[in-house]
Amino acid sequence: MKGGFLPLFLLVLFGIPSCVVSQQNQLETCSQLFRCGGSVGDIPYPFYGGDRPVWCGAAGYEMSCRDDVPLITISSLTYRVLAINDQARTLRVARDDLWSGLCAQTPQLRNTTIETTLFNFYQPSNDQNISLIYGCTAPPLPTLPPNQFECSSSAAFFFIRAVALTSSITCAGPEVTVRVTESAATGLESNPSIGLLQTSLQGGFSIQWSVDNQNCQRCSGSGGACGSNVTSGSFVCYCANNASFPSTCPNGNNYISASFISQPHHWI
Ligand SMILES: *[C@@H]1O[C@H](CO)[C@@H](O)[C@H](O)[C@H]1NC(C)=O
Ligand SMILES: *[C@@H]1O[C@H](CO)[C@@H](O)[C@H](O)[C@H]1NC(C)=O
Ligand SMILES: *[C@@H]1O[C@H](CO)[C@@H](O)[C@H](O)[C@H]1NC(C)=O
Ligand SMILES: *[C@@H]1O[C@H](CO)[C@@H](O)[C@H](O)[C@H]1NC(C)=O
Repeated sequence: MKGGFLPLFLLVLFGIPSCVVSQQNQLETCSQLFRCGGSVGDIPYPFYGGDRPVWCGAAGYEMSCRDDVPLITISSLTYRVLAINDQARTLRVARDDLWSGLCAQTPQLRNTTIETTLFNFYQPSNDQNISLIYGCTAPPLPTLPPNQFECSSSAAFFFIRAVALTSSITCAGPEVTVRVTESAATGLESNPSIGLLQTSLQGGFSIQWSVDNQNCQRCSGSGGACGSNVTSGSFVCYCANNASFPSTCPNGNNYISASFISQPHHWI
């Protein structure tokens, strides 16, 4: 019995590791471009989605693609991504729920809440708040005010720069804040109309992502692909031969083997 057991034991001990199937190479995986339609170009780090798993981006920065439109969900609201500026770390986004109508989601409409650990409103763009107030009872007038519209047979209004409602109007809500560019707000002030409000909302507003890009620029410059350690959340630079480093690839990611890198080496 002993004679039969030992070879089997050795086979189990040493035979299994050589059977490991070849797996994904990190540099190749994270070098894959994530494109969605033609409008925003390649979607860069810290974003992930499509063929790029979370470890090719930074946690929370997931984008998806629907009918060639890149989408991102922030505080449970979905936004269409209209433009990406990698240098300024900004996205121009528009609310998906208000894209094709101002009434679609009432009464479940929510505020545009962007301020999270991942994003902030981009202050330099000076985008403006617009209030939408639903469920109102407005006195019948010979001509409708230009900022009034109908949703579910009740009146709704929009206001720029938080103009107060007149006392003759009572509203059950919801009241939600949306954002448009400064020039769209100026246009709406001189020509308040529902059509212009709709196109203004489709123009979007700017938000800035929080994750530092300099790490990634240094990593890319050394021939690596950016990503993160999903356990610790820290930045990772993926390099040749499936090696990864905290910042850049050594020696410009030339043909250095992983075993060479992992061994202590003394330059003489
Ligand atoms: C590369 O490293 C990852 C994570 O350590 C591993 O899952 C994968 O199998 C490796 N791929 C190759 C080709 O060695
Ligand atoms: C949106 O924010 C305004 C102002 O902070 C608040 O009065 C309103 O109730 C909020 N609306 C919703 C739907 O949460
Ligand atoms: C616009 O609304 C956001 C919340 O949606 C708020 O944080 C911000 O202070 C408002 N800005 C102005 C100028 O009222
Ligand atoms: C990720 O972080 C964990 C915890 O800090 C660490 O143990 C692990 O080695 C890291 N993995 C990589 C691939 O850097």
